[in-house]
Amino acid sequence: GPWRVAGGTITDTPRYAHRGAMLDVSRHFFTVAQVKRYIDELAMYKVNRLHLHLSDDQGWRIALKSWPRLATYGGSTQVGGGPGGYYTKDDYRAIVRYAADRYLTVVPEIDMPGHTNAALASYAELNCNGQAPPLYTGTSVGFSSLCVPKKVTYDFIDDVIREIAALTPGRYLHIGGDEAHSTSHDDYVAFMDKVQPVVAKYGKTVIGWHQLTGAHPAKGAVAQYWGYDKTGAAERAQVADAARNGTRLILSPADRAYLDMKYDKNTPLGLSWAGYVDVRRSYDWDPGSYLQGAPADSVLGVEAPLWTETLKTSANLEYMAFPRLPGIAELGWSPAGTHDWGTYRERLAAQGPRWDALGIDYYHSPEVPWPAR
Ligand code: ACM
Repeated sequence: GPWRVAGGTITDTPRYAHRGAMLDVSRHFFTVAQVKRYIDELAMYKVNRLHLHLSDDQGWRIALKSWPRLATYGGSTQVGGGPGGYYTKDDYRAIVRYAADRYLTVVPEIDMPGHTNAALASYAELNCNGQAPPLYTGTSVGFSSLCVPKKVTYDFIDDVIREIAALTPGRYLHIGGDEAHSTSHDDYVAFMDKVQPVVAKYGKTVIGWHQLTGAHPAKGAVAQYWGYDKTGAAERAQVADAARNGTRLILSPADRAYLDMKYDKNTPLGLSWAGYVDVRRSYDWDPGSYLQGAPADSVLGVEAPLWTETLKTSANLEYMAFPRLPGIAELGWSPAGTHDWGTYRERLAAQGPRWDALGIDYYHSPEVPWPAR
């Protein structure tokens, strides 16, 4: 430079209000600086919601005044047994502010009633048998549950939601609700009936993983669909029914939008339970007509989750997010009529040199005609 650029006017509006990305900071902890780096990368593609998965079996990542051991003990490790970590309230505020300066709203998630071993390990009284289990550093799911019949469970939830809602300017609070395999169906429904009003009481709107549609989603609640091609018809129909009855949807189909799925059998990182997801598969679908029976206008948007069982560094995150993340972002922003794999792959290829210049690690998918380096 200096470079001269012709003046112009751009008229453009997003297709969807919710253009999200989720980062799992529980399975492996990521520092404030690492989260800021990811926010910068999301902002380049006009992603406007950062969903932070702040608690899971392996770690509780936000310090709360009312239940301090959640962070100091429940946050003390991670998958593989490393030291873990947690955000102080000031750390979390710094993330919220940094995101807001780049037009992203933080959506905090406290997953419940399952995915709660870190909390159960921190406070014995939260367990139905009164005994705290050990901390957990493996990668199994579905073995933990808050104690649905106990009163203290709801004192705990009230405190947690109150403190997190007070720290969060955005309107949404995500309560998880997935893979509650150690909670009976009746208990699950009773639990969600009690917890959703607490979110409303503290001024927030509920988001839950789509299993929430098997309970009684609160008025205005949002369900995040994470099924995939092998998800059964009854489960899909349940979500579509809820959508026809007013529940809005965020679409994160695992075999399209999950950034932690391997690209192919040779991908060194990630998981493959929803199959391999290369760049075309990730991009080439229409959120508006994806879930049969769900009205197009029930779709609030799309989101690309990044689970971190196998991911430890910013380079690991980037290798899985790039080049798929920009595709999900484009599905969220531009009208379906503009989506075309043949031209998209050319436009995507042109991003490669920019990522090289920015030091962003990315997968050189053979589906994309990258320029010679
Ligand atoms: C999920 O992947 N368990 C939401």
